[in-house]
Amino acid sequence: MQDASGKQLESSVGLTNLSLEDEARWSVKRRDFLRMLGYGASAAALGPLMAGCGGANGQTTVEGLRAKLVQDEAFWTDVQNMFVLRTDKTYMNIGTAGSMPEVVLSVFQEENFAKAADSLNGYGTHADLRALVAPGFGVDSDELAFSANTSSGMCHAILGIDWQAGDVVVTTNHEHGGGDTPLAIAVDRFGIEVSRISMPVGNNQSAATYVELFDERIRALKAQGKRVRAMMWSSPTYKTGTMLPIADLMEVVKTHELISIVDGAHLPGMMAYDYGALGVDFMSGAGHKWQCGPGSTGILIIRNKIRSSNPLPLPNWYPVHTSYYNTTPRTTNGTATYDVAASVTTCGSVHTPMFKALVRACELWDTIGRKKIETYDLTLSSYLKEKIVELWGVDALYSPKDDPKLLSALTSFNPFRNANDIMDQAKSSEFVSRMLADYSPGFVIRNAGFDVIGAPSQHYGVRVSTHLWQDANDVDRLVAAMWEVSNAMA
Ligand SMILES: Cc1ncc(COP(=O)(O)O)c(C=O)c1O
Repeated sequence: MQDASGKQLESSVGLTNLSLEDEARWSVKRRDFLRMLGYGASAAALGPLMAGCGGANGQTTVEGLRAKLVQDEAFWTDVQNMFVLRTDKTYMNIGTAGSMPEVVLSVFQEENFAKAADSLNGYGTHADLRALVAPGFGVDSDELAFSANTSSGMCHAILGIDWQAGDVVVTTNHEHGGGDTPLAIAVDRFGIEVSRISMPVGNNQSAATYVELFDERIRALKAQGKRVRAMMWSSPTYKTGTMLPIADLMEVVKTHELISIVDGAHLPGMMAYDYGALGVDFMSGAGHKWQCGPGSTGILIIRNKIRSSNPLPLPNWYPVHTSYYNTTPRTTNGTATYDVAASVTTCGSVHTPMFKALVRACELWDTIGRKKIETYDLTLSSYLKEKIVELWGVDALYSPKDDPKLLSALTSFNPFRNANDIMDQAKSSEFVSRMLADYSPGFVIRNAGFDVIGAPSQHYGVRVSTHLWQDANDVDRLVAAMWEVSNAMA
């Protein structure tokens, strides 16, 4: 994988195994960033920033994480200054919506004017634009499609598969409607069956938990004579922010020779994953969330050649929303027979300025360094999680914190002194509203309802997103405010 300037990037698969303390996760200093904003200068060699979080010099884990976050403060201040966000709010709901940086807005505006001035159309497969983005995701342009958003990508993926009545899809009970809706259509239209695993919550889980849960369920279904055909899961789930470990789950997929469908709404722009190395059949992500592209943009990765990461044959799949239909048989080796991603990207005349702006956002991320952004986001999130643990205790967390493979930049927890209050939807929503209304700047966060094993009703956990336009001070202010509201509502 290479960055925008041609610099070789480390393959990101397996890097989530590294702890946040590993130097390999930290890269690019401020002087280099300023140079990079001068367009295309090669990213400089990256110096070590500091030793591990906690332990050293008697620091607590929280102090260690904070030190990590502020050591490159000027760099991140420059990054924060790329955005046009209002200053009377602290935006911590990126999981729902990102925000275009100014340079991306400029491209969007210029391209809109150019399109209008020259009465341009948006026909074509846009392979040139896709080629600019694909290396940042570890794939070729024929494997990276522009979709309208995550939900649209999930529709393309799921409704295009040649389902047979009785096929079983194993998934979880924490999926988003973006994936669940096409799945429900496939149930009614093709007669497939859906088997849902009940998701654990909290810190007492590991990547192995998910391998076991999926593997055991598939074996049990097979023992009943069921034909398990696919696994579908969210990485991370939008409800608790639990990062289901793709690389580990792909081992289950390969063992049982299944189709793999990942709802990766939050992955582009948050995590620096290499999808060629992961070998998933489909990963549907948003362009408008963590990647900070325009609304109505998404990135759909479709496996289109056999790589060593996944030797299984490509699934039979037909485009469902397209102006490009290539009837060439799908390849059985490492060379694509046609550009499958074109069939998702093109359907009549599309709004090209939107995708050009998305490309600019992706280039910006490649230039800053996707791994650096991932590390910063996850460190902010770990800092938040540890601060929550300090005040509320570890049982308040719905998001796991200790297995790095399960870590995402989403943090979900129970802020209430009376733990059962989290099942009161109105109270949870009031907490979210007060976090915005009672503070200046107010905090934009959200809640989400989900099943908890053994609970009498849904929990409405409070969810916080931490991304590159925030810093440790934002997290400090957030936690102080949440503690205050929590006490006021006790
Ligand atoms: C896990 C997950 N899947 C799908 C979606 C839908 O995203 P989009 O608006 O990009 O379709 C979301 C949105 O928050 C999500 O969190």
